[in-house]
Amino acid sequence: MARLAQMVSVRSVPPGGGRSPIRDARVRASGHSTRDVESYYQHNTPAYLRGFGEFFQGSRPDSDEQLVSYTIEAAQLADGQDVLDAGCGVGGPALAFASHLDLRIEGVTLAPAQVDEARTRIAKAELKGSVAVRQGDFHQLATLYPGRQFDRVLLLESLCHAESYRDVLAGARDLLKPGGKIYIKDFYAVDHRARPERTEAQNTDLKRLTDIYKLVVPDLPSVLDLVSELGFQLVYLRMPEFEPTYRHWAQYEVETGRPWSPHTQPGEVIQGFELLAQS
Ligand SMILES: C[S@@+](CC[C@H](N)C(=O)[O-])C[C@H]1O[C@@H](n2cnc3c(N)ncnc32)[C@H](O)[C@@H]1O
Repeated sequence: MARLAQMVSVRSVPPGGGRSPIRDARVRASGHSTRDVESYYQHNTPAYLRGFGEFFQGSRPDSDEQLVSYTIEAAQLADGQDVLDAGCGVGGPALAFASHLDLRIEGVTLAPAQVDEARTRIAKAELKGSVAVRQGDFHQLATLYPGRQFDRVLLLESLCHAESYRDVLAGARDLLKPGGKIYIKDFYAVDHRARPERTEAQNTDLKRLTDIYKLVVPDLPSVLDLVSELGFQLVYLRMPEFEPTYRHWAQYEVETGRPWSPHTQPGEVIQGFELLAQS
């Protein structure tokens, strides 16, 4: 971990200066509120279900089954584990994991509409393990769950919505059993310091992304630096190893009628990453 952190240079100033729409993961995002995230999901959950299905993830392999088996392997899920799915949506991933494996999964989500949807699905599911979902804010994990009870904490395209990555990740760390792991799958802003002519278009596209989706993407080195500062040992940091499709995301935008439509290729603005780290 220390070696890798040294290999990745950590910025003290975000690219583009202080007004950059790229957040520094180590500090609280300004002008971005959890309350807005909650009302965004409360309002848009029906469109998410119609557009994305039960897995609210923009970067993913084509089939749900591929996404589930990929994530089980990537997060090193195994029978007998206690798992927290922080930002669990309607419980699609949690239910799929618990139908393959004997896992006890707790899910937390901001939006009451998602809790209702999740509970309806839980009541009908045939599971090897168990799933329970509650409403709550993942910035306050210590008030929601007692002690060091989880083998895994999953953040599946949910951390990008946080006001404070630090509060979420420190809270997650404090809930992990010794040797437990956090798995983050999310997006980071492409580093254009070597291509400054692309910065303006990227900034415009990122501002629109934040406006529509109520998320703020960080630069990748500051994510790694924070994880290291919080005492995690890195297992890996990588680009997802599946062939990504964005067709579910595109279907969602048809549903809402509010397309992101970046000026450049989406991959020049943001990229997906996965991080697995041990407490
Ligand atoms: C893009 S969706 C991903 C949902 C789920 N992980 C999945 O893969 O289907 C983001 C999720 O993060 C949740 N979320 C965002 N901010 C949160 C917060 N402060 N506390 C709890 N959940 C949060 C939202 O309610 C939503 O369920």
